[in-house]
Amino acid sequence: MNKLTNECIRVASRPAGIPAAENFRRTTEAVPDMQPGQILVQNQWLSIEPAMRGWLADANNYSSVPVGDVMRSLSVGTVMESSADGFSRGDQVMGWFGWQHYAVVRPSAVVQKITAGDLAPSLYLGVLGLNGITAATALDKLGQPQAGETVVVSTAAGGVGSCVGQLAKALGCRTIGLTSTPEKAQACKNEFGYDHVINYKTDDISAALKAACPDGINVYYDNTSGQISDAVLPQLAIGARVIICGTAAITSWDPAPMGPRVERILLTRRARMQGFILFDHMDTYASYVRQLEDMVRAGTLNHREHITDGLDTAMGAIQELYRSQNLGKRLVRL
Ligand SMILES: NC(=O)c1ccc[n+]([C@@H]2O[C@H](COP(=O)([O-])OP(=O)(O)OC[C@H]3O[C@@H](n4cnc5c(N)ncnc54)[C@H](OP(=O)(O)O)[C@@H]3O)[C@@H](O)[C@H]2O)c1
Repeated sequence: MNKLTNECIRVASRPAGIPAAENFRRTTEAVPDMQPGQILVQNQWLSIEPAMRGWLADANNYSSVPVGDVMRSLSVGTVMESSADGFSRGDQVMGWFGWQHYAVVRPSAVVQKITAGDLAPSLYLGVLGLNGITAATALDKLGQPQAGETVVVSTAAGGVGSCVGQLAKALGCRTIGLTSTPEKAQACKNEFGYDHVINYKTDDISAALKAACPDGINVYYDNTSGQISDAVLPQLAIGARVIICGTAAITSWDPAPMGPRVERILLTRRARMQGFILFDHMDTYASYVRQLEDMVRAGTLNHREHITDGLDTAMGAIQELYRSQNLGKRLVRL
C-alpha cells in the first residue's frame, strides 16, 4: 500500500476559447497503488504547450482530455519505484506523467529515458523535447530547406520557432522571424540568429516581408495562421513548402474564421502546404534528439526557458502563452 500523498491539477470544465486557471482545480489525493509492470515517477518539471488548448477542446482536434482527468502533459521526473522491466529507482525519464507531483504509469507512458548526464533534464521538454524535435522533424521532412533559400518563421522567439530559425540558418538559409515585442525581436536577432525580424503587431507585415524577401519565400514554417499567414502566402516563391505546425492566432474553430482563398496561390507557385503532428513521427524522435544534443553541447543551438515555480502556476500558464507573455520554453518547476 502506497502512503504518498499526491497534489494534482485536474480539468474542471471545458474552456470556451483559451483555457484559463478557472478551468482547472487542484486536488490532494493518495497516490494509486502500483500494479505489476508499472513505475512510480516523481515529477520535477512540467511542460506547458499551446497545443493544450486543442487537447482541452471538444471538437476538431487529434486528442482530447476528459473533464475530471489529471491534465495531460509531458513531464520530466525520477523513477521512485519500478516493477517494470528496464526501469530502476533513480532513472530520469520524460513522458506523459501529467500535471501532478507523482504518477503511476506503464512504461508506454515514457517517451525517453534521460541518460546524458551532462545536459539539464529540463531541456528534454524544450529544445531537446517536443519543441526542438518538432522543429527539426518538420523542417527536415516537410520543409526540406536548401542553402540560399529564404525561410520565414512565425512565433520565431518561442520554443519551436527559435529552433526552426537556428536549424534553417545552420543549413545556409536566410531566416526571417515574426514576433510581437522588441525584447523578443532582440532575442531572435542576437540569440537565435535571424537575419531579419518583423514585429507583426507594429510593422506592416506585407511591406516588411516584401523588403526582406525580394525573391519570395521558399519555406514558411507556420505556427500561427491568421494575419501573418495572410501576408506570407501571397509572397511564396515557385516550389515553396508551407508547414502548418500550429494555429496560435485562431481563437475559435467553430465556426472557423474566414480568410483569403489560397488555392490560386498554391497552384500558380506549385507550392505544397502540409499539416504536421510530431506524434506521427515518433520512429525518428530519438535520432533527432541525438542530433540536437550534439548541437547544444557544441553551443550551436541556443535556447531560452521561461520557468515558474509550483504546481499552481501551471493553471494560468496556457493563457499566458496566448498572451505572448513567455520568452522561451514555458516550464513549471516542482
Ligand atoms: N504540430 C506539432 O506537432 C506541434 C508540436 C509542438 C508545438 N506546436 C505548435 O508550435 C507553436 C509554438 O509552440 P511553442 O510551444 O514553441 O510555444 P511558444 O512559441 O513558446 O509560445 C507561444 C507563442 O505563440 C505566440 N502567439 C500567441 N498568440 C498569438 C496570436 N494570436 N497570434 C500570433 N502569435 C501568437 C506568442 O509569441 P509572439 O510573442 O511571437 O507572438 C507566444 O509566445 C504552437 O502553435 C504550437 O501549437 C506544434
